[in-house]
Amino acid sequence: MAAKTDLAFQKCISPRCGTTYAIDEVRVQCEACGDLLDVVYDWDRLRPPTSLMYFEEKWTRRHDPLCFSGVWRFHELLPFAPQSQIVTIGEGQTLLQSAPAVAQFVGIQSDRLFLEYEGMNPSGSFKDNGMSAAFTHARTIGASRAACASTGNTSASLAAYCSVTRLMKAVIFIGTGKISYGKLSQALDYGALTVQIAGDFDDAMARVKEASRELGIYLVNSVNPFRLEGQKTIMYRVLEGLRWQVPDWIVVPGGNLGNSSAFGKAFSELYELGLIDRIPRLAVINAAGANTLYELYDRRGLRWNQGAPNLDIVSSYYAELDQARRRASTIASAIEINRPVNLNKCLRALEACDGVVREVTDQEIMDAKAQVGAGGLGCEPASAASVAGARLLRHEGVIGANERVVCILTGHQLKDPTATVAYHTTDQDKFNEVLGSRGVQRAAYANRAVAVPNDFDEIVKAIQLYS
Ligand code: F0G
Repeated sequence: MAAKTDLAFQKCISPRCGTTYAIDEVRVQCEACGDLLDVVYDWDRLRPPTSLMYFEEKWTRRHDPLCFSGVWRFHELLPFAPQSQIVTIGEGQTLLQSAPAVAQFVGIQSDRLFLEYEGMNPSGSFKDNGMSAAFTHARTIGASRAACASTGNTSASLAAYCSVTRLMKAVIFIGTGKISYGKLSQALDYGALTVQIAGDFDDAMARVKEASRELGIYLVNSVNPFRLEGQKTIMYRVLEGLRWQVPDWIVVPGGNLGNSSAFGKAFSELYELGLIDRIPRLAVINAAGANTLYELYDRRGLRWNQGAPNLDIVSSYYAELDQARRRASTIASAIEINRPVNLNKCLRALEACDGVVREVTDQEIMDAKAQVGAGGLGCEPASAASVAGARLLRHEGVIGANERVVCILTGHQLKDPTATVAYHTTDQDKFNEVLGSRGVQRAAYANRAVAVPNDFDEIVKAIQLYS
């Protein structure tokens, strides 16, 4: 249990339980009731800055790694560890990019759409925000091995932090054939122990929890509450990119629901601290082939309900999935998840942010991805779910044409070249193999390579014809 004098501690998210734990305890769930844990702060005694402008001053001290990091620049808003214990590999140097062409595709005013490009992180996805926080906690408690189950990006991030810092050894659980080559190559290249189990992400997640408990390995999946502290900073950087103005909408893909949970916590805390005067709305976008949140929230009416969600709705849905032997299936392999571990926290975030949930098809994801590539920095399929979701919400009239919208691009374009090349290919068999099998029927925005004989005149002709 946490002591009354603790400035930071862990706390069960269920208001009916609320059991507390000291900050140096290693837990991924409440011992009393099994619910998720939060990292909670005694803000009255910690006295964080009274204005977000305070953080701009840190840019002038970029030679200091703690000011350079886009996570630890905001240390005062995630003060669970002393500066001396902080682990950083330069994460969070990201960009909030105005994307007029993508705005047009989404159907909103050209200067109102922004893409938060998390692909610029050292391992190429948003995961590094959370990993630096989890590593910081792991360091304070002296862990020597860290494990995760992954659809590829968490594992790439864990492996990168292990190889750069040498603080821990990485143990990675992945489902067979469920991870894109870009991501698998990272885990192998960074030297992680990679355990490929016969099954999918949901199986790997169940197993890694078991193995880490049994073997005392530090778990860095987003059930680890410290991960989410790091991921809060994505929202701080969005606000920073907008000169501290609050947007109308944050649109994010939903997989294990760590980001949406972290974003809700970030905004609730900023509001409580008086650092923002309103909370943006949150839209969480599932892939239609991995749509547990959509099914539960939109179709079956599951709500946080001020901390008393009707969990019978969840267990009966999972029983149905089991009975029908239904597995998650989407081209957006990063979010190919049917049992999101942060479900309860995400429900809380949706309540705090007046949120909505939608599902988008693989066709919509791939078309949105092509538009992001053509009008922005590019992204992997899962990330494009945010843009496809924003477009859907605009068509429904839920998002207004003048509203300011931020879509989170969670992962780098090069994470999954197979999907991208298949979309743009002229080889119908390749298209069918990778995308047709997922119900993608056409590539409306394909940019096809032009085949030309090795003849200079023909080459010139082709350039003149197509440029
Ligand atoms: N986008 C990308 C690129 C991801 O890798 C993930 C999750 C998500 C979105 C979903 O985020 O869990 O916060 O809802 N990838 C995990 C992994 C599951 O293992 O890399 P979430």
